[in-house]
Amino acid sequence: MNKPVNKTSAWKKLTSYYRWHKNDEMKDLFAKDKDRASKYTLNLENLYFDYSKNRIDEKSMRYLLDLAKEVNLKEKIEAMFSGEKINITENRAVLHVALRNRQNTPIYVDNKDVMPEINEVLAKVKKFTDAVRFGEFKGATGKKLTNIVNIGIGGSDLGPYMATTALKEYWAKDMNCYFISNIDGSACEDVLSSVDPETTLFVVVSKTFTTIETLTNARTCRKWLIDALGEHAVAKHFIAVSTNATEVSKFGINTDNMFGFWNFVGGRYSMWSAVGISIALMVGMENFEKMLEGANAMDLHFRNTEFEKNIPVIMALLGIWYNNFFGFKEYGVIPYDQDLRFLPKYLQQLDMESNGKSVDIDNKFIKYSTGPIIFGGAGTDVQHSFFQLLHQGTNIVPLDFIVPAISHNEIGEHHEILVANALAQGEAMMRGKTVEEAAEELAKSGKNADEVKALKRYKSFPGNRPTNTIVVKKVDPYTLGMLVAMYEHKVFVQGIIWNIDSFDQMGVELGKQMALSILPELQGNAYNKHDSSTSNLISLIKKIRK
Ligand code: F6P
Repeated sequence: MNKPVNKTSAWKKLTSYYRWHKNDEMKDLFAKDKDRASKYTLNLENLYFDYSKNRIDEKSMRYLLDLAKEVNLKEKIEAMFSGEKINITENRAVLHVALRNRQNTPIYVDNKDVMPEINEVLAKVKKFTDAVRFGEFKGATGKKLTNIVNIGIGGSDLGPYMATTALKEYWAKDMNCYFISNIDGSACEDVLSSVDPETTLFVVVSKTFTTIETLTNARTCRKWLIDALGEHAVAKHFIAVSTNATEVSKFGINTDNMFGFWNFVGGRYSMWSAVGISIALMVGMENFEKMLEGANAMDLHFRNTEFEKNIPVIMALLGIWYNNFFGFKEYGVIPYDQDLRFLPKYLQQLDMESNGKSVDIDNKFIKYSTGPIIFGGAGTDVQHSFFQLLHQGTNIVPLDFIVPAISHNEIGEHHEILVANALAQGEAMMRGKTVEEAAEELAKSGKNADEVKALKRYKSFPGNRPTNTIVVKKVDPYTLGMLVAMYEHKVFVQGIIWNIDSFDQMGVELGKQMALSILPELQGNAYNKHDSSTSNLISLIKKIRK
């Protein structure tokens, strides 16, 4: 049994250090130490992580690093990389890192090296995606398949969706891709009304192949295809990615066109496997492999670098500092890159499904805060929506700014304006503006004394709001791989510190079960016992639908 983290000596030191230093101002820390920026900037190749605009100093960082050591983080990292069954509730290894193990060193699960099978599936993905892209694997009427429709939900959707969007610049020029995840019929309708059955390839992605949304959507698409081209077309227009060959063939998909993966890969960690086949179809296997290489570079950095210089470890420790000591329960990710706009959505599942837990791995209810609420969106858009609260609201939200130095679309001064905004937001969050400064500015702008008095507080900014700035050269496949792996490992480290199993997702089950009991009531005359609100709502909706 692990010692509860809030009873460790590092935690106690952090608690007391926080008490004395919680009001320290970052702007004073910058003024005191001219080397602060370089002292608190790390890099891995072309990825730079500037964490100097955080409410930290040498001592708090030391205690946080002590905490990492006290929870035996090093051994836990080794346990993951070497295939130990660290997903204890499901008795599974956690080996998304094996999917991008470009060194191809053996990794054993139950005495079996997993690498040969991983390589085999990658080779199959390459063969198939090349065949589609070069027009050798054609649709039932002999036309090239140029519309890729990914049908999946959660981890079987968000990774491919985020990554294909992020890598739009690398798409084959004659191809397009679409995503159907939601069970809402409009999701199917939107896509099916935009594509031509003769040129459409449906990629049904479901680890379990039992997820009601995915299977219902897949059946609707199958019917649409059969109505247009006949039953024989299914084999040419449907492929599946799943661990469940029996259900795949029951659905009518030829298992030759099924791409497997393994239960040591969780849904939200799966885009590196055949689950990423839509990515490979759109950007080509060479680019998909570059994404794996980028992730692998981050894996090696994470596994082999001392904690002081380890980007995911430092990121995770900062998150612990804010969440568990300052009480900041939200976390924002703001990519200043249009193509990364879905990254926050992806990270929402990665982080919240992994660390939204309240029982620890020793089967005890937890008495400290765990996973934060993750949200975000692309800058500068979000500056004009929720940034008001981030600057002047009463909740303090630590932020990550992701800033590519070079854009794929260097049009006029667009990119410089974008970057200027990203950097300005970090500076503004840190410095703020005192009431006196606001008053002075108002007076300078010609306001009289009464007007200055009336407005100065509204125009002030508390500042001292923490941000990390992650600068990358350009959003290319390799960099995307690095970025995503960096967040995966951050989530892992936090899970270790909180002593939770970051790799199950039992919290999604209850709602699914209840939906199954409500469905027959909506569809017929069945009655199940509910609270009066739910029963009334069922009757009301049935009445309206009549
Ligand atoms: O809703 C939870 C979840 O199990 C996710 O973890 C997973 O990514 C998603 O559903 C889809 O599951 P499947 O790939 O089995 O269809």
